[in-house]
This record gives sequence, structure tokens and C-alpha cells, in this order.
Amino acid sequence: MVSYKDLGLVNSRELFNKAIKGGYAIPAFNFNNMEQMQSIIQACVLMRSPVILQVSSGARQYANQTLLRYMAQGAVEYAKELGYNIPIVLHLDHGSSFELCVSCIEYGFSSVMIDASHLPYEENVALTKKVVDYAHKYDVTVEGELGVLAGIEDDVKAEHHTYTRPEEVEDFVKKTQVDSLAISIGTSHGANKFTPEQCHRDENGILIPPPLRFDILKEIEKKIPGFPIVLHGSSSVPQDLVEKINHYGGNLKDAIGIPESQLREAASSAVCKINIDSDGRLAMTAAVREVLFTKPEEFDPRKYLGPARDSLKELYMHKIKAVLGSDNKA
Ligand code: G3H
Ligand code: 13P
Ligand code: ZN
Repeated sequence: MVSYKDLGLVNSRELFNKAIKGGYAIPAFNFNNMEQMQSIIQACVLMRSPVILQVSSGARQYANQTLLRYMAQGAVEYAKELGYNIPIVLHLDHGSSFELCVSCIEYGFSSVMIDASHLPYEENVALTKKVVDYAHKYDVTVEGELGVLAGIEDDVKAEHHTYTRPEEVEDFVKKTQVDSLAISIGTSHGANKFTPEQCHRDENGILIPPPLRFDILKEIEKKIPGFPIVLHGSSSVPQDLVEKINHYGGNLKDAIGIPESQLREAASSAVCKINIDSDGRLAMTAAVREVLFTKPEEFDPRKYLGPARDSLKELYMHKIKAVLGSDNKA
């Protein structure tokens, strides 16, 4: 068993308290390889932003649990070497079982999500509480979830959103003692969050998706004032990246995300953690495709992963400043 404290990591408690008071959100960026980790840390150090390094169970299998523990420790040391000791959380994204949460805590995670929102309410409460009771013994923070996002979440596919029911949140938080709550108000995972039929066009012909359910968010805030809220599925799917991917041989259809202005609005409320994965995947893929397409003679991975890393860094810096508002909060 290794404690996250020995790796130089922090849990999310203090970061969330400050973020709610300050009207901003902490970036939760997914990673599973070195280039992603480097660009996240470079961007966050430059912007002086705290960060949540987020690992899904699939990413943990891909990268290997032992390597991840050293990568997280390396991230802390790398930030210091770059000149600023930013707070770094290592978080399990969409933990599907008690056993997985325990294993992550044993391997140095400072925060875990137990995603049991697809279960009946009382089972969600029981499993979340079991994880909280264990995690809190090691001062590890826990994210729970109420409501189910449309699309794929935790290997569970849902046709439609099941929005979070504001009347449940107070009871859930009280019974489970979770540290933060992920909610469902119209975001979803991946690059196809809406169909074109669900959107309307503005005067410039740009597709505008239906707005997030801020009414539900406000109701939730009234029930649990000052409690940290988390938004999953918060990529904006920048159209320039989609076009670049398709221009250089890709085939992404009807890729539509959450407008950044709506995420900014959410970040200024009790939403204090915003999860972004897909936008990073798009930035990386666009850069790799461009190099491989324009320089077919290239076969040194550094020559396409390097530009991908630069593009990711630029994307993360933009998110921190324009969407999350977490710059200069480290
Ligand atoms: O919420 C899901 C994240 O984007 C992680 O996706 O399970 O493909 O690693 P993944
Ligand atoms: P996106 O697919 O919108 O990036 O969401 C990522 C996420 O919620 C990770 O948990
Ligand atoms: Zn998610």
C-alpha cells in the first residue's frame, strides 16, 4: 500500500472548497500516456492551475497500475521542475466496484469515483457509503453520482438522459457522506452528444445544441448549498478539430459538443469539477493525422506525438482560462 501523500499528491477537498467560493472549476483531464500527462502538467504549471489527473478503468488497464503510480509521482516532480508546485489530484474516473476503488487507493490514488447511479437508489447509497467508509480512513475523497448521462457511461449504455432528481440529493449526500456529487443535466460522453436534429442553426448556420438544464442545477444547489458538484461529459467538440481530422483522412460524422459558454456558466456556480476527455482525443488525433498525411515519409513517433503534445497543451491552456477559470488559482 502506498499513500498518495507520499507521492506528493493531494485529495480534492480543499480544491473544491476554494473553487466553489471563487466561482471557478478544477479541470479533470483524462490521461493514459506520457504525452497527455506532460501536456496537462505543462499547461497547468504555465496557467498556475490546480489539476485533477483522471484515469478510467480502461485507461488503468491500458497504462498499467504500477506505471501510473510512478507517472503520478513523476507528474508532481515534473511540475516542480517546470517551476511551480501545483496541487495535483490522482482520481479514478467511473469506478465500477468497491474492489476497484480499494485497489486504486492502495496504488496511490487520492480520490475515487464510485459510479453506481445506474443501480436502484438504495443500492447506489449502500455501495457509495461502503466506498466512502473505506476511502475516508485514508483521507481519500469520493465522488458519487445521481442520474444517468445519455450515451455510454461506465460500460452502461443509456438511450436517454435520466436527469438528477433534486429531491434525492440531500438524502444521498447525508447518507453516503460523499465529498462531491456528479449530476446529469444534459451533458453526455464522447464526441456525438447531440444529433443535428436536436439542434437549431444560428444566423451563421452554426448548429446550436439544446441548453443544459440549469433549472435542475439551481434546484440541486438550493437543496445542498455549497456542496461540490461535478459535470461529466463536458467536451465542446471544437469544430476546427473535427474539420482538421476529416480533412486529413478521418471520418467523424455529426460530432457536436457542449458550447463553452454554457460550461463557463456552470463553472461559476457550485460546479467545481469539469471532466474533459474527448476534446483532448480530438486535438491529439488531428495533429497526428496532419503530420502523417503531409509528411508520409515520417516514421519517428516523436515527430507526430510531439506536435500532438503541443496541440494538447494549447487546448488545455484555453480550457483553463476561457472555460474553467482556474488560472492563477494554484
Ligand atoms: O467517461 C469516460 C472517459 O472519457 C473515459 O473513457 O473508458 O474510453 O477511457 P474510456
Ligand atoms: P467527454 O467525453 O465529454 O470529454 O467527457 C469525459 C468524462 O466525463 C470523463 O469522465
Ligand atoms: Zn465521465
